[in-house]
Amino acid sequence: QSIEACTLALFGASGDLALRKLFPALYQLDQAGLLHADTRILALGRESGEPQQHLAVIDQHLRLHVAADDLDDATLQRFSARLDYLSMDFLSAEAYPALADKLGRVEQLIAYFATPASVYGAICSGLAHSGLAERTRVVLEKPIGHDLASSLAVNDAVARYFPESRIYRIDHYLGKETVQNLIALRFANSLFESQWNQHHISHVEITVAEQVGIEGRWGYFDQAGQLRDMIQNHLLQLLCLVAMDPPSDLSADSIRDEKVKVLKALAPITAEQLGQQVVRGQYVAGSIKGKAVPGYLEEDNANAQSHTETFVALRAEIRNWRWSGVPFYLRTGKRMPQKLSQIVIHFKEPPHYIFAPEQRPLISNRLIIRLQPDEGISLQVMTKEQGLDKGMQLRSGPLQLSFSDTYRSMRIPDAYERLLLEVMKGNQNLFVRKDEIEYAWQWCDQLIAGWQRQGSAPKPYAAGTWGPAASIALITRDGKDWYGDL
Ligand code: BG6
Repeated sequence: QSIEACTLALFGASGDLALRKLFPALYQLDQAGLLHADTRILALGRESGEPQQHLAVIDQHLRLHVAADDLDDATLQRFSARLDYLSMDFLSAEAYPALADKLGRVEQLIAYFATPASVYGAICSGLAHSGLAERTRVVLEKPIGHDLASSLAVNDAVARYFPESRIYRIDHYLGKETVQNLIALRFANSLFESQWNQHHISHVEITVAEQVGIEGRWGYFDQAGQLRDMIQNHLLQLLCLVAMDPPSDLSADSIRDEKVKVLKALAPITAEQLGQQVVRGQYVAGSIKGKAVPGYLEEDNANAQSHTETFVALRAEIRNWRWSGVPFYLRTGKRMPQKLSQIVIHFKEPPHYIFAPEQRPLISNRLIIRLQPDEGISLQVMTKEQGLDKGMQLRSGPLQLSFSDTYRSMRIPDAYERLLLEVMKGNQNLFVRKDEIEYAWQWCDQLIAGWQRQGSAPKPYAAGTWGPAASIALITRDGKDWYGDL
C-alpha cells in the first residue's frame, strides 16, 4: 500500500509522549523514506510563545531520543522543513477556525490526540465545526476512560463526529514487532496451530515487568494503578492475540472480531475468588541494579496514604472449547528486577512417561515469545545429552530465533513508527475497536469493585524484586512456577 501525502495535526505536542516518542518516530519514518514528500506536521500545544521556540524544543528532543547513528543532517533538515507549531487552547471553540486557516486545503488530515481523554470531545467538535472532520482520521491515545462508564462517554463524544472506520485507538503494544509476529507465528505455521488448545497446552504466562518507577507521573498514575494502566490494555491485548481463534483473513475487523470473542469469554473473577486469584502489590524502598530507590509512597508528590497498586498478578480463565481448564497467569509491575515482557506457552507433558523418574520435572516444551528486550522466539525442546558416558539423560535446550541475530543489520523499529505508518496507510489492523475497550473495562471494573468492597491495602514488595510473595503462591498453588525468575 503506498503512503499518500497527509497533514498530521499533533495535539499535545509539548507533552512527554510527543517529545519522547512521536516526533522521534516520525523522524525515523522520514529517514526511512516512508513520509511522502508533501507530508506536513503541525505541532499543536497550549503553551504560548514563538513557534521557533517550540520547534527548537522538538529539535532538542529529537537529538536526545533518536539514536546517534540515525541522526543525519539531511533528514534533520528535511524533517524540520515539514514542521510548524501553532499555540491554541484545545477547549476553546474559537481556536479552531484559526487552525483551519493555518492548515489551508488538506486532502488527508490525521488528528493525533496526545492529550488527556477529557479533551477529545472538545477537539472533535472543534474540528467538525470548522469543516475539518470530512477527510480526517483521528488517533486516540490511551487511557480511554477510567472505567466502562467513562470510556463509553469518551467513545460517544468522538463518535458524534467520526465514524469508527476513521478512529484509530492506540495500544502501543500492538505496534511492537514481536507482537505482530504472534500473528505470523500462530497462523503461518500449522505446526503450532494444531497444538494451540487445551489438549496440548497446560498453561500460559504473560509477564510485563518494568524496572522504572513512576517517573514523575504520580498524579496520573495514582488515579489509575497498574490494573488500569497496563492490564486493561496491554496485557489483555496480548492475551487476546495468544488466545483468539484464527481470523478468516487479515482485515482489521476479522482480527478484532476474534479478539472480542476472547474478551467476552473471560471468566469474571468474583469478590470471593479475588483473594485466591488476584494479587495487588505496592513497592516499598529497595534497590535496582545495586542502587537504592524510594518506595511508591516516598516518590515526589506522593500521598503517603495511597492504596494504589503498582503490581498485579492474576489467574484468568477463558471459558470456551479451546481454553477450558487452561489458566492464563498475568503479571505486571513497576520497579521489578529487570525490564522484561514475555509470553510463555507451556505445553503438557507427554501422555506416557518412559524416562528416569528424577528427570520428570524437566519434561515439557515451552514456547517463549520475548517482546523486550532481545526480541525473539525460542522453543524449548527435550534432547539427549551427548557423549558415550551419558545414558538417556535428557536436557532442555532452545530452538531459537533471535530477531537481533537473524536481522542483524536491521534496526528494530519502535512501536510508534509502525503505528503512525499504519494510520497514514489507513489500515486499522493494529488499533483497538470500541467494543474491545469496553469489554476489557467491564472485566477490569469488577476486579476494581471487588477491591473497593474489601478495602484492603496492596501487599508491599521491595523495589527490585518480583512482587509480593503472594504472587509466587498464586502460581505455585497450581504446582507451577513463574518461568525464568532469577
Ligand atoms: C504505558 C504505561 O502505556 O506503557 C506506562 O502508561 C508504562 O506506565 C508503559 O511504563 C510501558 O511501555 P513499554 O513499551 O516501555 O513496555
